[in-house]
Amino acid sequence: MSTAPTEPSRQPTVLITGCSSGIGQALCRAFDAAGYRVLAGARREEDLTRLAASGWTPIRLDVNDDSAIDAAVDSLRTQLTGLDVLINNAGYGAMGPVLDFERDRLRAQFETNVLAPVALTRACLPLLSARQGCVINIGSVAGLLTSPFAGAYCASKAALHRLTEAMRMELDPLGIDVILVRPGAVASSFGQRALSEFHARLQPDSPWQPWQEAIDRRAISSERLKPTPADRLARQLVAAVARRRRPRLIRAGQGGVAVALAARWLPGALRERLLIRYFGLHKRN
Ligand SMILES: NC(=O)c1ccc[n+]([C@@H]2O[C@H](COP(=O)([O-])OP(=O)(O)OC[C@H]3O[C@@H](n4cnc5c(N)ncnc54)[C@H](OP(=O)(O)O)[C@@H]3O)[C@@H](O)[C@H]2O)c1
Repeated sequence: MSTAPTEPSRQPTVLITGCSSGIGQALCRAFDAAGYRVLAGARREEDLTRLAASGWTPIRLDVNDDSAIDAAVDSLRTQLTGLDVLINNAGYGAMGPVLDFERDRLRAQFETNVLAPVALTRACLPLLSARQGCVINIGSVAGLLTSPFAGAYCASKAALHRLTEAMRMELDPLGIDVILVRPGAVASSFGQRALSEFHARLQPDSPWQPWQEAIDRRAISSERLKPTPADRLARQLVAAVARRRRPRLIRAGQGGVAVALAARWLPGALRERLLIRYFGLHKRN
């Protein structure tokens, strides 16, 4: 007797990571409203309960945990015949001077923002192939323009952008589209979480102690820019997925275009001088 799963109706499915707050939660609402079955990833029990109460299928998923990825995908394979959309959204911003980062903290930033999207997409590949589905990676304009005190975060998003480009070309023959989202400022818990993570890791003997206020300012920069509502970004993604020819890149979020233009057109030396001035990083005499 066959144990292959059967789906009563051909309702499209989306798996979204990092649904406890912010953009992830807005994506759940938007894809739900568009008729998708929403598989909402989160790692804390109370978040999973809340997601289930909203009518979405909760998926226990710490994206840094390979066994959690395997368990989640194994369970999906018993329930689904395929996956239409995978959104690698979970991520965070580790802020502070690059040389204040111990190896473990730097590694953790890359584990979540860079390695996890690859690991999860790899695990979901058979399900995505079955539907000729679509992978959406949430990058950032921070991956285009490096600012002081956000080097680890900027580098992680730049790395994700490059991996996304390679995946796009490599998944093309399998009929799977890959979209990079490159947001500017979007309203979420991102800034406050970045601030708390930085304060929890403050180095008392750091040569950059005098710049703590500037680091705080960088951590919450997305809140200071009249951020775009996360629901608006989420609706933009739903519309992009519905298009017959899906875009390779989605620009969204307050300030995103200005940052992209500055990254592209301002000469590097001028850009760095402006940032040095903005963050008060002048040479001591
Ligand atoms: N907000 C912005 O201005 C902005 C701009 C550009 C890009 N982005 C990107 O957008 C994405 C979503 O961020 P957000 O703005 O919505 O911030 P957020 O409100 O802080 O949400 C981040 C989400 O990621 C989850 N997450 C972090 N590490 C995880 C892990 N190891 N396993 C599973 N989930 C994990 C968090 O879950 P927990 O609650 O369990 O920690 C939370 O659900 C991130 O990739 C971020 O880099 C945001």
